[in-house]
Amino acid sequence: MGELMNDEQTVNQKRRSLFKLSGVLLGSAAVTSSLVPRAFAASPATTPAFSAPTRDNPIRINFNENPLGMSPKAQAAARDAVVKANRYAKDEIVQLGQKLADHHQVTLKSVLLTAGSSEGIRAAIEGCATLDTQLVIPELTYGDGEHFAKIAGLKVTKVKMLNNWAFDIPAMKAAVADYNGPSLVYLVNPNNPTATITPADLIEPWITSKPANTMFIIDEAYAEFVNDPRFRSVSPLLSQGMDNIILLKTFSKIHAMAGMRVGYAVAHPDVIARMNREVAGEKINFCGVDAALASMDDAAFIAYSKKSNDLSRQILLKVLDELKLPYLPSEGNFVFHQLIVPLKDYQKHMADAGVLVGRAFPPADNWCRISLGTPEEMQWVADTLREFRKKNWV
Ligand SMILES: Cc1ncc(COP(=O)(O)O)c(C=O)c1O
Repeated sequence: MGELMNDEQTVNQKRRSLFKLSGVLLGSAAVTSSLVPRAFAASPATTPAFSAPTRDNPIRINFNENPLGMSPKAQAAARDAVVKANRYAKDEIVQLGQKLADHHQVTLKSVLLTAGSSEGIRAAIEGCATLDTQLVIPELTYGDGEHFAKIAGLKVTKVKMLNNWAFDIPAMKAAVADYNGPSLVYLVNPNNPTATITPADLIEPWITSKPANTMFIIDEAYAEFVNDPRFRSVSPLLSQGMDNIILLKTFSKIHAMAGMRVGYAVAHPDVIARMNREVAGEKINFCGVDAALASMDDAAFIAYSKKSNDLSRQILLKVLDELKLPYLPSEGNFVFHQLIVPLKDYQKHMADAGVLVGRAFPPADNWCRISLGTPEEMQWVADTLREFRKKNWV
């Protein structure tokens, strides 16, 4: 392998192996003639049929996107919204805000819609920082916190990770306690690029102890993919009225709406008012608002999205185990695994095979982030990895 794989026999062989695996994983030997597991054949998604990757049409597992496509109900809502989009989505924006407020058991004034959660990160930092504020972050985490803090001229304090790339919460606490000024603490849970969770028992006592002059920005972009019961959302703390938390959420991941740019923040009304000064008035487009409303009602799609991600993860972890490539416990829609070759070589071999994998995430130099595609895509990637091993490319 190493060239693009477009040989029909290989495709069929790979499909057959996916097929067997899926039957085992889903506890069902029954499969359809289209080689898609039955549990997925009746799926509430419109995922395009799998075809062998090419350079022009690669398997895109580099940006933690949801490969399934938006919920068909959300797609229909977005299409219907086009003909109304000469108007501002005034009522619908309030409707979405209220639906999210109900979902999190807070009032409407505790919700701020944002253009993706990226805008939420920016608004949280700009709305809450003063000139002497520091942003405290773990060394290996999603980059937007540091990015926007630097633009805002804040001091950024990076805290070293523990051995297994876990957050060092006691060291982060110390960084806050030792600082002579206000702190913003940006915690991504599950984290990106590691896909690991930080147990609630480590975070909640710190937040509820209400350290002076400290605001916690908790980014739960991937929470809906989590299986580990040690994870808990901070959402209930907000419905209890805590005023030192900003919860950031997005429709980009479990709802498969990355290109629609819909996100939101949940916080105390006073905090939301400060963030609101930093975002445009009509920030969400009509299609995004209506799609988000429809997607929230499509429980079947959301369950399917989670189940498909679980299956894709199992396919990838199985081959990583087989090849004895260490990886971190994944609780997101991606897996962080260790390499025995330089990342650049791995990326190149993968790209030549029609697969786009994650970028470099220093200081984790010998690691690669692989986003989870569809089960069929992951079966293709698994077979590609087996071929790579024969050439010592992995
Ligand atoms: C942890 C985290 N937060 C926020 C974002 C931003 O996503 P969006 O702006 O699409 O909501 C991402 C995107 O990958 C992310 O990984």
